[in-house]
Amino acid sequence: MHNIRPNPSLLTQSITLLSVENLHVSYGSIKALHGVSLHVPQGSIVTLIGANGAGKSTTLRALSGLVKPTSGSIRYDGHEVSKLPPEKVVSRGLCHVPEGRMVFANLTVRENLKMGAYLQKDRKWIADQTDYVFGLFPRLKEREGQSAGTLSGGEQQMLAIGRALLSRPKFLMLDEPSLGIAPLLVKTIFERIVEINREQGLTILLVEQNANLALDVSSYAYVLETGKILLEGPSAVVKADPQVQAAYLGA
Ligand SMILES: Nc1ncnc2c1ncn2[C@@H]1O[C@H](COP(=O)(O)OP(=O)(O)O)[C@@H](O)[C@H]1O
Ligand SMILES: [Mg+2]
Repeated sequence: MHNIRPNPSLLTQSITLLSVENLHVSYGSIKALHGVSLHVPQGSIVTLIGANGAGKSTTLRALSGLVKPTSGSIRYDGHEVSKLPPEKVVSRGLCHVPEGRMVFANLTVRENLKMGAYLQKDRKWIADQTDYVFGLFPRLKEREGQSAGTLSGGEQQMLAIGRALLSRPKFLMLDEPSLGIAPLLVKTIFERIVEINREQGLTILLVEQNANLALDVSSYAYVLETGKILLEGPSAVVKADPQVQAAYLGA
């Protein structure tokens, strides 16, 4: 018998989950984004790299509805979402883990995870997904009764990612998960990001200043400079680009 089942990764590769066209964002008189366009295929890990102040966080804030673009379009999962309030965007499965993690410091690890699941009704799914998160990050399991404020930066990042997974996302946006974290934990967290992408079929947009790591775990990359996409391409090609090497990879 021939195996006629198509490879699911091939089927999903060509479907675009997120399409951003010519996005402009201002904070009062400060123009932060000047016409950003980017595309994220379903099931992929795409990275947006760039220096401090380039507009990476602003891009994610616009995608999750926290800031309103002055112009441009954001199509997510077949719908124009650029004018929707954040809660409407979230309910469509777009989940934003902001810079600085923002866990609830006074709540325990387990309570933080529970907060992530506040819109979920299926108790079995919540229990299974909590176990999945504890399997990904055993440190969280060890500290489940501890208040989140007592965790290290790396552990708080794990918790922020875990909490996001409990919201049952389709699309996860991570804003600088490596920022201010011990190198050993950064490596663990990036390995887990790849694992989550593979095991949960989750599409990921990874924003990073740590270009080296981000280019290693992603399939496609955009380089943002002062509110514009400077260049884009398959991550391996971007990594080999002399301009990128000089400016972002310390070569
Ligand atoms: N709340 C804000 N008010 C005014 N300007 C802002 C605000 N947030 C960011 N900016 C400006 O927008 C630009 C892009 O910032 P940001 O998106 O935070 O960059 P990145 O995340 O790449 O470091 C910067 O010039 C920054 O100073
Ligand atoms: Mg930022």
